[in-house]
Amino acid sequence: MAMLLEMRNISKSFPGVKALNGFSIDLKAGEVHALVGENGAGKSTLIKTLYGIHQPDGGEIVIDGVPTKINGPADALSKGIGVVFQELSVCPHLDIANNIFLGCIKNKHGVIDDRFAHEEAARLMEEAVGLRIPSDTPMKDLSIADQQMVEITKVTSKGCRIVVFDEPTSSLTENEIERLFKIIFALKKKGVGIIYISHRLEELPVIADRITVMRDGTRVKTMDYKDTNDNEIISLMVGRELSNIYPTYKRTIGEVVFEADNIRQGTKLDVKHLDVRKGEILGIAGLVGAGRTETLRALFGADEADEKHVKIEGREYTFKNPSEAIAAGFVYMTENRKFDGAALGLSVEENITMASLRKFSKRGRMQEAKAKSNAQEYCKKLNIRTPSIDQKVMNLSGGNQQKVIIGKWLTRTAKVMVFDEPTRGIDVGAKYEIYSLMNDLSDQGIAIIMISSDLPEILGMSDRVAVFKDGRVTAVLDRKDADSETIMKYATGKLS
Ligand SMILES: Nc1ncnc2c1ncn2[C@@H]1O[C@H](COP(=O)(O)OP(=O)(O)OP(=O)(O)O)[C@@H](O)[C@H]1O
Ligand SMILES: [Mg+2]
Repeated sequence: MAMLLEMRNISKSFPGVKALNGFSIDLKAGEVHALVGENGAGKSTLIKTLYGIHQPDGGEIVIDGVPTKINGPADALSKGIGVVFQELSVCPHLDIANNIFLGCIKNKHGVIDDRFAHEEAARLMEEAVGLRIPSDTPMKDLSIADQQMVEITKVTSKGCRIVVFDEPTSSLTENEIERLFKIIFALKKKGVGIIYISHRLEELPVIADRITVMRDGTRVKTMDYKDTNDNEIISLMVGRELSNIYPTYKRTIGEVVFEADNIRQGTKLDVKHLDVRKGEILGIAGLVGAGRTETLRALFGADEADEKHVKIEGREYTFKNPSEAIAAGFVYMTENRKFDGAALGLSVEENITMASLRKFSKRGRMQEAKAKSNAQEYCKKLNIRTPSIDQKVMNLSGGNQQKVIIGKWLTRTAKVMVFDEPTRGIDVGAKYEIYSLMNDLSDQGIAIIMISSDLPEILGMSDRVAVFKDGRVTAVLDRKDADSETIMKYATGKLS
């Protein structure tokens, strides 16, 4: 029997970058084929050629044994190919029904009919993903998870037999991931073939049937998932063994640098006290929605608070906006990098430099050479894949865009740095580099607050762990007392 899909020897170049270099993958009906590789390996580009967004320079796409040209997304959908993208492609101001049908559903009389569209949308949402949300809700009012459910509905309502998920779980909660997996299982049962891209190797045992490792636009290996393991996958991905991803490190911890008291925001937040010392990493753990980001945003002046008291090196501050906080040496690296992170239209160098203009100017003149060598240094340290520091950030892969933002805040020396989910969407090799850089920063005496939903990361990096639940701190644990069980107890309130 012919394979459902074969992509043979696909190549695709952009100026200065060979994103795909004779890459091949195939897909059977009813299987989940995981596709993994470092940031910039070419995963999203591959999917864009399958969806007709890019035309490959070479190679062929074969569906049911028939070589097929995909002329664009509409053509892809009509040929049964659907994609749920890494950066959701939804139109935020349109409602659910219009996102599913893009304004072109006809009723049985062949007329475009708005009421019919809404009824259909509601019915399809319930059928495909079991959700009952009014179909006139604008997309921007939905959570990321629900927006994704609308995308899935769109893809399944078109009867797609080939469905690609590009990092679908990177901003979902545990429950939402479970819901997504149930839907994937249901699709499999119907004989849909699924290509599943993720950096979260820990979720693959649950869903992957086969796995292909990609590196520099080529296929390293395709395996049955049951015949491999994380160590092999990682070493194929990064081309070397990573024995311990948390660099062993001995930190010297000094006096308290940052103190926050009585942070209140309506009924949502009521945090009595937080502090971090010189050279210390304070991990902030908790379930998604526990108020971790909200607390730090309020302290940073990004959101309003009813009350907050901040002290840095003993001096009191009120921080009415982020610029005041940054000026005082308090830097916050946002989790939502797509929306308040990178300036996509500017170059890698400009992004890395822009928070530290003063550092690179002398008597009012920009010291270009210094800025350039700093940008180059971080590209090297963080292994940012770009043909040059002049590349526009929008042309980088998702994970590399994140690394640019990390480079920007590492350039801006500070007293206190907040890393909010610093390694989300980042490949395993680069994670190690980011952890090493955090250790370097702590070495320089910077106090670090790291918000993370990744328990191994919290345990691997933190000197102390503050656990949040319902907008409150339920425990502050020393490294020696912190283990996943204890943290989860305080995070869920199930103190048996
Ligand atoms: N439109 C474009 N113009 C120039 N270069 C591009 C463009 N799109 C992608 N690239 C480059 O192609 C390479 C592959 O990028 P791609 O987005 O496919 O990586 P990825 O494997 O999806 O990475 P990630 O895990 O970070 O999402 C990268 O070096 C990227 O910078
Ligand atoms: Mg990608």
